[in-house]
Amino acid sequence: MGTPAPSQDTEQSYDFVVVANRLPVDRITNPDGSQGFRRSPGGLVTALAPIMAASEGAWVGWHGGIDEELESFDKDDIHLVPVPLNETDLELYYEGFSNSTLWPLYHDVIVPPEYHRTWWDRYKKINQRFADAVLKIAAPNATVWVHDYQLQLVPQMIRLARPDLKIGFFLHIPFPAASLFSQLPWRTQILQGLAGADLVGFQRETDASNFLRCLRRFTDYSTKGDVATPSAENQMQNLCRAKAHPISIDTEQIAKLSRDPQIIARAAQIRNELGNPKTVILGVDRLDYTKGIRHRLKAYGELLADGQLRAGDVCLIQVASPSRENVDTYMELRDQVELMVGQITGQHDTLSHTTLRYLHQSYPLREMIALYLAADVLLVTALRDGMNLVAKEYVAAHQDGRGVLVLSEYTGAADQLTQAVLVNPHDIDGMKDKIIQAVNMAEPDQEKRMRRMNRHLKINTVARWSDVFLAELAEISAASSAEATIR
Ligand code: G6P
Repeated sequence: MGTPAPSQDTEQSYDFVVVANRLPVDRITNPDGSQGFRRSPGGLVTALAPIMAASEGAWVGWHGGIDEELESFDKDDIHLVPVPLNETDLELYYEGFSNSTLWPLYHDVIVPPEYHRTWWDRYKKINQRFADAVLKIAAPNATVWVHDYQLQLVPQMIRLARPDLKIGFFLHIPFPAASLFSQLPWRTQILQGLAGADLVGFQRETDASNFLRCLRRFTDYSTKGDVATPSAENQMQNLCRAKAHPISIDTEQIAKLSRDPQIIARAAQIRNELGNPKTVILGVDRLDYTKGIRHRLKAYGELLADGQLRAGDVCLIQVASPSRENVDTYMELRDQVELMVGQITGQHDTLSHTTLRYLHQSYPLREMIALYLAADVLLVTALRDGMNLVAKEYVAAHQDGRGVLVLSEYTGAADQLTQAVLVNPHDIDGMKDKIIQAVNMAEPDQEKRMRRMNRHLKINTVARWSDVFLAELAEISAASSAEATIR
């Protein structure tokens, strides 16, 4: 590790280009005090790294610094192309349009989205900056894979400049129903932006059908099955296919870590340090209003107050990792959650036992696996979530067949992990019943459910997800160029 070496050949072009708001690296300070980067542990980069290494692959994204121009550099066989963002870009494009307009709108308006023209103008400008970075390095006929809601205009921008490219887009968060999406003053532009891709992937079937319905209603596209066709007047003449491609995790990596003796020992230590309660319940989320943390705490607090759960018998560990801390709605949520935490612990803790351990921190993957192993029950109570990979990781960490997953119906994961104890987080009484069901579940029942869900995760890994998506993209692009030749 060390300060990244600039790549030797800045004019080099790449056959496979991934574009996402963030580069897959975390900033670190080396022992000698210098700054460096470490590959982030996420599943997306784990899946794409082998493809990047096998082809000439590059990743375009923001490096996390403010107003800092960095040369492109190589890290663990991936060529990284940093896109700079200054303070105003962060305020208007990232905190503003991405996280105060699109994020709440796409998550069923759990908090009201704000619509500001200055935010939209900056969103367009930054999308163009990412698109330009791609255009500079994409080889003829390269495959470009654009990720997530921050970059929805990029497919069209690169399509118009470079019709030779194969363009895929994947939306990691939900796509809302037309009745909600219609609020967006720039709905047509966003839809046109996405439709620049040959293939748009979504987490759930519902997201894909919402998108196709919106295209029909708000643009000049007509649709047949999962394919959208522009009118003859449209500047773009590519067909766009919209399909569900649910993302997953590196199941084998998690399973392997869950067998690591050091991690197993750490899990035992965690339980010990909590005073060995009969039941450890866990919640792991970014501190985000979509995650239903307040609903979960309400249900848990009531179970303690009712006497259905008792201090000394149970402890809830709530990891809430810091997120988007300059956005008002996130600051308000933090205050509300921390107030509830204080109320629960103040009322129910004893001198010897805590009922709730709240951790406003992020942890490395190994510590997360230890927490999964230590937990008898995982609570995922999101009010809306594109997928929820924490749920999948918890299951993969329980190859031993122990543990119960309580999972919100409003997550993409609920479509696949159907043996979880499914809950509606808006129904506090129902959620209390399900938590008690999970706490008391007999081991054979736990095991049967865990084994079935693990069978699914063994096959449906993140590597398979990217392989299937990219194979389909290659097929579609080959078919469209054949069609274009005939026309
Ligand atoms: C979600 C989004 C990602 C985003 C991540 C972290 O998972 O789908 O695009 O990167 O949250 O949020 P942040 O704002 O810190 O990038």
